[in-house]
Amino acid sequence: METQLIKAVEFLKSQTGDFLPQTGIILGTGLSKLADEIEVLHVFPYQQIPGFVEATVEFHQSRLIFGYIASRPVVCMQGRFHYYEGYNMAQISFPVRVMHALGIQTMLVSNAAGGLNPAFSESSLMIINDHISQFLPDNPLRGKHNFGGDRFPDMSEPYDQELIAAAISIANELQIEGVHQGVYVSVTGPQLETKAEYRMLRMLGADAVGMSTIPEVMMARQLNLKVFGMSVITDMCIPETLKKAELSKILAAAAIAEPKMTLIFKELIKRNL
Ligand code: HPA
Repeated sequence: METQLIKAVEFLKSQTGDFLPQTGIILGTGLSKLADEIEVLHVFPYQQIPGFVEATVEFHQSRLIFGYIASRPVVCMQGRFHYYEGYNMAQISFPVRVMHALGIQTMLVSNAAGGLNPAFSESSLMIINDHISQFLPDNPLRGKHNFGGDRFPDMSEPYDQELIAAAISIANELQIEGVHQGVYVSVTGPQLETKAEYRMLRMLGADAVGMSTIPEVMMARQLNLKVFGMSVITDMCIPETLKKAELSKILAAAAIAEPKMTLIFKELIKRNL
């Protein structure tokens, strides 16, 4: 392990003692309320943790929380790092390596995304069942192979089928409406896409588009973590009916969907898959 990773893990372990998180959670834009469900043991602002950069987006919090959800030990990133903030892929995916070194086996990740599939609607949810990474100009796995795992990690099934099936049955059991499945494509941002770009992304097989998640998922798969991902559809991106994007509307749509997403994440953790 390189020095920075050792430093981060040593620092966190020196503060959290015997606490052994099983599940790592990354909360996306406007989706930080799951953190309120944590029986909190420790909170670390990112600037305290060696190797962590600062989340620069003002509506993102930036702290790592240790505690319990449904009696299960978790570590939760309230706020994440994006390529559009100017960070490189190593910085963006570093927290995943730290959470892995702390002992997590499963990673749950959420994001706000634009809906490309016309069957979706604003504030609906999409369980991510596959992704397209190739629009990102870089990749956290490129370079010296010192992460452990395979040099050419398999990506035939980045999202865990058992967790996907469990999320679907949770949505059915709890009668949570508007839960879809689909392919997430990542772009760099920060600008939103043009109509021509939305048309292209749809034609290439994507159901939702966003500016995060895939670098973290690639690193998690490199480290052999089980991954579950969910997008909250905050705006519909159909070229023919596209409206001007407004951050306030995106955040409002995220807030409407957030309780549904929070419930599904909480139930998944409770079922301990
Ligand atoms: N494009 C990219 N990222 C997004 C979008 C979008 O339309 N909506 C929310 N995040």
